[in-house]
Amino acid sequence: MRRDFSDLFDTGRPLIALSPMAGFSCVTYRGICHDFGADYAPTELTSARSIVMNGVDRSYRFMRIKPETEGVTCIQLFGNTPEDFTEAMKIICEDELLSRVDIFDINMGCPVQKVVKTGAGSGLIRTPKLACNIVTKARETAEALGKVLTVKTRIGYDESDKSGPEFARMLAGSGAQAICVHGRTAKQMYAGKADWEKIRAMRGATEGTGVYFFGNGDVRDGESARRLLEVTGADGLMIGRAACGNPWIFSEVKEYLENGSPCNVKDIKKTPSLSEKCDMLITELDGRIEEVGERIAVCEMRSVMPHYIKGFPGASGIKIALCRASTRMEVRQILDDCLLGKGNGV
Ligand SMILES: Cc1cc2nc3c(=O)[nH]c(=O)nc-3n(C[C@H](O)[C@H](O)[C@H](O)COP(=O)(O)O)c2cc1C
Repeated sequence: MRRDFSDLFDTGRPLIALSPMAGFSCVTYRGICHDFGADYAPTELTSARSIVMNGVDRSYRFMRIKPETEGVTCIQLFGNTPEDFTEAMKIICEDELLSRVDIFDINMGCPVQKVVKTGAGSGLIRTPKLACNIVTKARETAEALGKVLTVKTRIGYDESDKSGPEFARMLAGSGAQAICVHGRTAKQMYAGKADWEKIRAMRGATEGTGVYFFGNGDVRDGESARRLLEVTGADGLMIGRAACGNPWIFSEVKEYLENGSPCNVKDIKKTPSLSEKCDMLITELDGRIEEVGERIAVCEMRSVMPHYIKGFPGASGIKIALCRASTRMEVRQILDDCLLGKGNGV
């Protein structure tokens, strides 16, 4: 059963998605971002090999989807053979809940050495024939399962790599229905500025193929979102780090793109209050507690909570206190003390 990417969304405007982020893109946060206007939010990357070897159980919590709160759902996989991807997709679709997923996304951008040295993630940028073979086979399987197949990649492997546009054209020609390009090389990891001109060159190379094209990298607000779309010519965009602890960014960007112009942006930028930020932190924590229990949730939130309290008076002290907390009650107390102005919670 053929399904097109654009069939999933009935909107004539650019799509705004939460960029997948390991440690941040849990099912709870993806639902929160959807509430604030994110059109969709892929899961963080999961190993196709592990699913083939062990079934879905070990990776279940990373792949868990909730169509009721997320809207369109997307599971991202990484791997290095077409067989692992196709087999993993079939295994996922044997699970009652996971079989409701709309999109499978192939990770061709992860720069982590452990992944790259196996030839997966951004390692696939260096083996374009294998990358295309993976896309061709995965698309066939996706179609048989009634799913959409997308790819997320980078502008190249390193500075000397000029293959980006050709790579994008090949991915589209092999059957990718949407491509997201992060404007950094794998070697850059997350350092430096995203190169939107290089994204534009890749977008240009896919012109006329019908592929939906996302630009990604350094979108921080409505104005940077507008500029990314303008410079790259992308159809839509994904927001990563600026959305950590900041689901409000989706409504801000959406409103800016719909109504905004640099002259009236002040009117539409809604900055949440400290108390709203604290409440949202607790909402995410509560969702995570439901997912994995209090001990693990509080522990995992240690890397997330500092993002919510960025810019608070005494933020560094609050951050230390939050990172020492091991229960929901302690977290709430630290936040309440900080809202009441009782020092910084340490
Ligand atoms: C902590 C962290 C985890 C990430 N995990 C993933 C991942 O699982 N899959 C993926 O495709 N990209 C991952 N990324 C990359 C982001 O999706 C995004 O491409 C990158 O951060 C650039 O966008 P930004 O400038 O808006 O943050 C991760 C990035 C960060 C910072």
